[in-house]
Amino acid sequence: MISWDALFSERAKTMKASAIRELLKLVTQPDIISFGGGLPDPHFFPIHQLQECVHDVLETNSAIALQYGATEGVPALRSWLAEDARSKGLDVTVENVVVTASSQQALDLIAKVMLDPGDIALVEGPSYLGALQAFAAFQGQAIAIDMDEQGIRTDILEERIKAIRSGTRPIKFIYAVPSFQNPAGITMSIERRRQLLDISQRYNIPIVEDHPYHALRYEGTRVPSIASLDADGHVIYLETFSKILSPGFRLGWVVAPEPFTRKLALAKQATDLCSSPFNQLIVLEFCKRGYLEPHVAHIRREYAKKRDAMLNAMDEFFPKEVKWTRPEGGMFLWVELPKGIDTTEMLRDALEVKVAYVGGTGFYPDGRGENCMRLNFSYSTPEINREGIRRLSECIRKRL
Ligand SMILES: Cc1ncc(COP(=O)(O)O)c(C=O)c1O
Repeated sequence: MISWDALFSERAKTMKASAIRELLKLVTQPDIISFGGGLPDPHFFPIHQLQECVHDVLETNSAIALQYGATEGVPALRSWLAEDARSKGLDVTVENVVVTASSQQALDLIAKVMLDPGDIALVEGPSYLGALQAFAAFQGQAIAIDMDEQGIRTDILEERIKAIRSGTRPIKFIYAVPSFQNPAGITMSIERRRQLLDISQRYNIPIVEDHPYHALRYEGTRVPSIASLDADGHVIYLETFSKILSPGFRLGWVVAPEPFTRKLALAKQATDLCSSPFNQLIVLEFCKRGYLEPHVAHIRREYAKKRDAMLNAMDEFFPKEVKWTRPEGGMFLWVELPKGIDTTEMLRDALEVKVAYVGGTGFYPDGRGENCMRLNFSYSTPEINREGIRRLSECIRKRL
């Protein structure tokens, strides 16, 4: 019999099952109220418009759609994305754009081309679990820098950079989700974005700006991306169609300086040759027909109601000892319970009353966040969000 454990690489040995993926299995049980995943509401997928696009792509462009494509992406989509990036204030051409199998692949490829074992990635604390997994898979060392209500603490960040620089391992990048962060729901202020960019420039450490939620703003004023503030190529910028259209397409894109996109494309070639040209052409058609903007406006209105229902229920039901963030957009908020309550243990009580969430520790590379949890508000209806919070409040009261 083969002993698989003995054959796995050192890299693979560090890979562990993700709490989120395990939880996603529960979402399929119809009677569970799941605040666990990061899923768009499937009721809003624009089925008819997509049917139209699929039909037309097959009618008019099947030779390209059903063939292998360029690793960097279908040229017409790359041009559209470059134009889109310019309209958002990024100074780029097509050569700066690489289409990926969504942002998760971009994170994986960034880790692949940047991290040697032990190399350091500075991340927000808490940070996106999938990014931590991608960095760990290449034996990178993620170090979390605390956030406050304005985003990453740039004062702490600079201190840490100085301290780490006297050691032996290099810092390869700073990873941030500045708008409606997953998991904390915090939006980095414009001052912090400028300070972060300033640190990046002074210490010559690139920023990986992951921006999947920026179009999902429900209140407040737009804050420019860090990439749009950057004049000399310090930012690797990530976007995805997952949250604004559908994660099923597995389509995202990276906008970065050319030496970086060239290397990224080489890495992607070995991974999957190219992202699906069929999917790229369908999504391009959807965008060119002007369907994306109204669709995003629609889900923005609906998700705002879901967020409000969750926040109102928390005001009504949660004990006063509990703190939580009030995101201006996105899909998540972050709850902090009094110290001593372990949200991973409490999950058992929650599942008994048919509510699921993700405990906080997975979002920290150093195991902090024991008394925290992430709640998703975009998947269920406003009414179900309210009922789930009511049930969760009972679990919390039991533990207080
Ligand atoms: C911050 C962040 N980055 C990346 C992703 C990955 O998304 P996708 O691979 O579907 O684009 C997610 C998904 O939840 C996310 O929240």
